[in-house]
Amino acid sequence: MQQTQWSNNGSVIWLTGLSASGKSTLAHALQRILSQRKMHAYVLDGDNIRCGLSSDLDFSPEGRVENIRRVSEMAALMADAGVITIVALISPYRIDRGRARKIITDSGSRFIEIYVNAPLSVCEERDPKNLYKKARAGEIQQFTGIDAPYEEPENCELILHTNIETIEESISRIIAGYFP
Ligand code: ADX
Repeated sequence: MQQTQWSNNGSVIWLTGLSASGKSTLAHALQRILSQRKMHAYVLDGDNIRCGLSSDLDFSPEGRVENIRRVSEMAALMADAGVITIVALISPYRIDRGRARKIITDSGSRFIEIYVNAPLSVCEERDPKNLYKKARAGEIQQFTGIDAPYEEPENCELILHTNIETIEESISRIIAGYFP
């Protein structure tokens, strides 16, 4: 079989991790850096997607499956159009991330799974939207890390420790590894 030659276009960078782990911050910082290098990059962020494309979905396992499927299909189309597509979704189930990988690589694009790994205690401490507090108080159900699972990646391309590294260090590691 012929070896695929990846270009810097046709890439999906998939950031997975707990709420408040730093996915959105990293995604937007990476987009800025890539844009400065004249690469066309765009962020698909769970918080925004769930206000539009996935506004009809809840946070049940089924709701998350469908959310991740929609974003995967969209990311595959955008990557096919040459956009470096940066996805920031909790995407807590390994099987869903595996499906995302298949959808995107089957469509001919590169899939880079990055685990944005901050401990739950750190995310809970940050709690920028007070969602962990609400989840602990029982006001929100099925909250990832509290009463819904997060399955850590086993074979991802990169792990970023956002409680130890600065944003600049994390971004540099992504750039060095995948956009040299
Ligand atoms: S995913 O599990 O389907 O990938 P997604 O990344 O789209 O989740 O959305 C996560 C965002 O939705 C969180 O950052 C948080 O702001 C909000 N949210 C609201 N309810 C929940 C919940 N029960 N679990 C996780 N996130 C929630």
